[in-house]
Amino acid sequence: MRCRPPIISGLLTLVALSTLVSCLPSQRTQLTESQLSALIESHPPFPALSPNYYMTTTPAGNLSEQSSPDGADERSNGKTVALLTPMLIPRSPGSDNATIVRDHIMSHFDGLSNWTAVTDAFMATVPEYGGVMGVLNFTNLIFRLTPPGSDDIPSRYLTLVAHYDSKISPFGFIGATDSAVPCAILMYLAESLTPHILARWKSDIDAVSDDTGLQIIFMDGEEALVEWSDKDSLYGARHLANLWESEKKSSQFGRMTALQDIDLFVLLDLLGAGSPAVPCFFEITSWACRDLAETETRVRNAGLAKTKGQRPFIRAHNVMKNVFIDDDHMPFLRRGIPIMHVIPIPFPKVWHTMNDDGAHLSSEAVHDWAVFVTGWVAGYLGVGDFL
Ligand SMILES: *[C@@H]1O[C@H](CO)[C@@H](O)[C@H](O)[C@H]1NC(C)=O
Ligand SMILES: *[C@@H]1O[C@H](CO)[C@@H](O)[C@H](O)[C@H]1NC(C)=O
Ligand SMILES: *[C@@H]1O[C@H](CO)[C@@H](O)[C@H](O)[C@H]1NC(C)=O
Ligand SMILES: *[C@@H]1O[C@H](CO)[C@@H](O)[C@H](O)[C@H]1NC(C)=O
Ligand SMILES: [Zn+2]
Repeated sequence: MRCRPPIISGLLTLVALSTLVSCLPSQRTQLTESQLSALIESHPPFPALSPNYYMTTTPAGNLSEQSSPDGADERSNGKTVALLTPMLIPRSPGSDNATIVRDHIMSHFDGLSNWTAVTDAFMATVPEYGGVMGVLNFTNLIFRLTPPGSDDIPSRYLTLVAHYDSKISPFGFIGATDSAVPCAILMYLAESLTPHILARWKSDIDAVSDDTGLQIIFMDGEEALVEWSDKDSLYGARHLANLWESEKKSSQFGRMTALQDIDLFVLLDLLGAGSPAVPCFFEITSWACRDLAETETRVRNAGLAKTKGQRPFIRAHNVMKNVFIDDDHMPFLRRGIPIMHVIPIPFPKVWHTMNDDGAHLSSEAVHDWAVFVTGWVAGYLGVGDFL
């Protein structure tokens, strides 16, 4: 049986609707505590997300993994590759380090089954910095996991976003929370969920053909190069939103641009410091924010969180409608895309300082964010029965 949007009118709509209802995918659910536990045990976030777990290059140019002495016992799983540490380097747009970080992300997704990669590379004029005014190369990376059999039905994607560039000044700035940790969490999430998502899709290819897929975007050029303004910031997000708005898709179902494939745009930013407080910002997506908060509650109740005795990270009880934060979601928000912004208020104390580095992260908070977000996405994509 196939699930299709009701495109016929009149009496037949009833038939179409009942068909739709009878095969509505069990997506946008919540994992139970035991499902969350199974998910995390099958793929623990550490050591891959530990800032102490790093890779070094041997004289022959080979990569080998090492960890600090206190993380030595974490190396039992020989297959684990450091996700976070290779990104804890300055990586401003157009730099050689940005290419290194991009290669790190690309090779990670290359190693996962069934993901497709799209790059959005472009040049943009930037204001004077370091004494020169000119153009820089920027590259957004987009990865998609698409339900099978959806060739003739436009796919929708839960879209998870973080920026991988770092601020060009002060010299040597790392940006661990901003946003190396969010990027690493998205890489972990993809690695941990891919087998479960594919298992769900394999179970009944016809029934899931209009399942929501997963799209992960690593945005370039979020940071201003000189001083934050409409023109000097959000280079990648502005370019991508504009590109997708103009990319027309022929569709009998009324979704006309690639932009409209976005089911929900979830932006992670400034995560990894201790004791964060993340509010909901948008009434229209407060359901998603409450679901994420509920996942946090279940993870904590199941004893799976590493931060103990703390107030919840997600504060879903009220929606902070009057707070305006300019970030990579804005070009998409302006085009009517539903947004969930996962960013703490206030920002971490280390924000835009030299202290925003690996040493100032809370490993426990990094772990817990990875579990909360991954557990929530698992429920959204309906993989609870496929763990
Ligand atoms: C580097 O990798 C190559 C190919 O796997 C191997 O032959 C070589 O011995 C390695 N060198 C070192 C120093 O590990
Ligand atoms: C590139 O990263 C290295 C660390 O791997 C750092 O020492 C270097 O300063 C960075 N380059 C730039 C231009 O920031
Ligand atoms: C930007 O990318 C283009 C095409 O890949 C390349 O030819 C050019 O040298 C790059 N410019 C800079 C400033 O790196
Ligand atoms: C994943 O890719 C393999 C190989 O291309 C293909 O046979 C399989 O059907 C794909 N699975 C799903 C669920 O898309
Ligand atoms: Zn920043």
